[in-house]
Amino acid sequence: MPLWGAVLTPNRIILMKTRLFFLCAVALLAASCGRNVSRSVAFDGPAYLNPSLPEEERVEDALSRMTTEEKVAIIHAQSKFSSAGVPRLGLPEVWCTDGPHGIRAEVLWDEWDQAGWTSDSCTAFPALTCLAATWDPELSLLYGKSIGEEARYRGKDVLLGPGVNIYRTPLNGRNFEYMGEDPYLASRMVVPYVKGVQSNNVAACVKHFALNNQETNRFTTDVKVDDRTLYEIYLPAFKAAVQEGDAWAIMGSYNLYDGEWNCHNDRLLNTILKGEWGFDGVVISDWGGVHMTDQAVRNGLDMEFGTWTNGLTMGLTNAYDSYYLARPYLNGIKAGEFGEEELNDKARRVLRLMFRTSLNPTPKYGKFTSPEHSEAARKIGAEGIVLLKNDGGLLPISGKKNILVVGENAIKMMTVGGGSSSLKAKYEISPLDGLRSALEPSGVKVSYERGYVGDASGSYNGVTTGQDLSDKRSASQLLSDAVSAAKSSDMVIFIGGLNKSDHEDAEGADRLQYGLPYGQDEVISALAAANPNLVVVNISGNAVAMPWVNEVPAIVQDWYIGSEAGNSLADVLTGKVNPSGKLPFTFPVALEDGPLKTQEQYPGVPTGKTIGMFPITEETYSEGVFVGYRYFDTENVTPLFPFGYGLSYTTFEYGEPKADSSSMTKDGKITFTVPVTNTGSVAGAEVVQLYISDSEASVKRPEKELKGFGKVYLEPGQTAEVKMTIDSSALSFFDASSHSWVAESEEFTALIASSSRDVKGSVKFNLK
Ligand code: BGC
Repeated sequence: MPLWGAVLTPNRIILMKTRLFFLCAVALLAASCGRNVSRSVAFDGPAYLNPSLPEEERVEDALSRMTTEEKVAIIHAQSKFSSAGVPRLGLPEVWCTDGPHGIRAEVLWDEWDQAGWTSDSCTAFPALTCLAATWDPELSLLYGKSIGEEARYRGKDVLLGPGVNIYRTPLNGRNFEYMGEDPYLASRMVVPYVKGVQSNNVAACVKHFALNNQETNRFTTDVKVDDRTLYEIYLPAFKAAVQEGDAWAIMGSYNLYDGEWNCHNDRLLNTILKGEWGFDGVVISDWGGVHMTDQAVRNGLDMEFGTWTNGLTMGLTNAYDSYYLARPYLNGIKAGEFGEEELNDKARRVLRLMFRTSLNPTPKYGKFTSPEHSEAARKIGAEGIVLLKNDGGLLPISGKKNILVVGENAIKMMTVGGGSSSLKAKYEISPLDGLRSALEPSGVKVSYERGYVGDASGSYNGVTTGQDLSDKRSASQLLSDAVSAAKSSDMVIFIGGLNKSDHEDAEGADRLQYGLPYGQDEVISALAAANPNLVVVNISGNAVAMPWVNEVPAIVQDWYIGSEAGNSLADVLTGKVNPSGKLPFTFPVALEDGPLKTQEQYPGVPTGKTIGMFPITEETYSEGVFVGYRYFDTENVTPLFPFGYGLSYTTFEYGEPKADSSSMTKDGKITFTVPVTNTGSVAGAEVVQLYISDSEASVKRPEKELKGFGKVYLEPGQTAEVKMTIDSSALSFFDASSHSWVAESEEFTALIASSSRDVKGSVKFNLK
């Protein structure tokens, strides 16, 4: 496919003409409305293009004009990332892009290889773990708006993200793309992201629905989970994205649930998503997640992408005709095997997607790599960084003249790699460069030692970092060079952690160990012995073991922050920004401390069954709702760092919490108020958390569950009242036998806390 083929297909030219016609119509309509509001304007075109008609009328009109072949044509891919429109009617192609941290570079029409554009280097925004760690829904809105603008500028209609799969094990290679272990936090953070993206006429495609909590055997794992756990832990963030965020698209996941692949899983897609939640958007398959025509037709899938059919590997003229929802479907309809009812439903949803995105009556144009986007990325990055330990107030950096930075992650570009979220970023400021530009102007000398070699490579699907990270020194030489430099420095900042290579934080394979790779533990201990002023910065999207935790005075949890990585980190280490991030997941001391104890729970066991050519593995979520802090706090297992934890350069004092009532009715609300004072000497922000504890219930419930939070910015000495309101949904558990949320009339306790393990005050109340 020639390069221009990816830009101007015949269908794209027709689409551009249609958009022009459509936009002229909108402009004419608006102009005449402005002149005389009482005069109705005759629209001289087909009803489906009339911007003044309701969306559903246009959808029905367009549908009524389409042939069966045209309906089938719009529900499957025509290239790696696009699906066909209807050129005869001027209906547009739909263009998708990854997601979820920036707009992916263009690939060839039929291949994953780079198209070689020079205009597709994007702003890389912080990974979603970092966004979740801000605990700030306003920043999530800013994130969504900014990335949506980049998608719109690049002509994309669907952004493949955000991801809200729950953090079930620290080994999951894709946790960095998700929003942590708590369904409430993920729900509050996903809604503004979706709204922000969609305000640009770009659909957010929330992924991966559902129970896609690991990469090991991701195509063949059949998850067994009870309904209470499904509804309480794994569905809420998707439901919030659909019902509160009005998400226009959802992506099915690769794995199976109860014996059916999730891209065509009857219960998940038809019964729950479209039935119980009333989802009216499109269900898009994950790339290659469709396995059979019959289920793809009947079980709620709307658009098929990325399938590896025989047609593709055998290289027919138009291999996409061999997709399960292409010729096989059409043949099935002609043979009377399928009626047109399902086809009309799918086509209707795709038409709705077109009218919401590229044919939206209020056009948007977006912007790309703007200074505002860099500023947003830097701010979100700095607000998400979590200060884990700061003995003796070693941070922020002050009064030091000679600082040594050690570690591969201080110089390694992290925007490339990790799988489908890999980005070709316009620029990426490394932690070392960020620190140098923040510190050197004030006369601080910043030197660098590698300390260890991890992964010197840096390419993904043809995007290369251009960095040469190879180092010929032996491991012991690297270590002794770093240690001797540490001895003669005022302060040492070790910047290591994981990276985006296979079996680290990357799609396609889980981590093989909980500990840090490449001998970093030994390097850290040696540096701690050489210099008492050691700061360890861990860059990862996952918890890691820290056997040296007591040897090191200061620890910072950093993330894959993208273009502004070095600036965000320098802002926090120098105190330009006072850290306020809080962990969106628990750090266990050891992996065995967590709730997953058996092979059956993770990574699953072979069943001996095959479906098609796939040997199926079964995995049982027998830990139930006891995931993350719900397990650690209920079983009283002390974590290394708890959920919701994070320090500041200032201190906060919590006053007595109060409730505006001592009891709540089933459809009432209670507001809790707690005064918080900044008792230190610098301005800072605190995330106040509200957990609910059920004193006695007819089912075993977690010791506490997050049901509210508020972030408050305070000047030194300032006090503010933080208010958090709940209704009875915060008290309910999902009762599988009645298939409903149940709030039992009894006593509850509202815990006001600064992390799941640091409860500052409590209020008891009753539900009547
Ligand atoms: C990933 C999706 C991604 C898609 C397209 C799949 O392998 O699981 O998250 O959006 O590829 O790149």
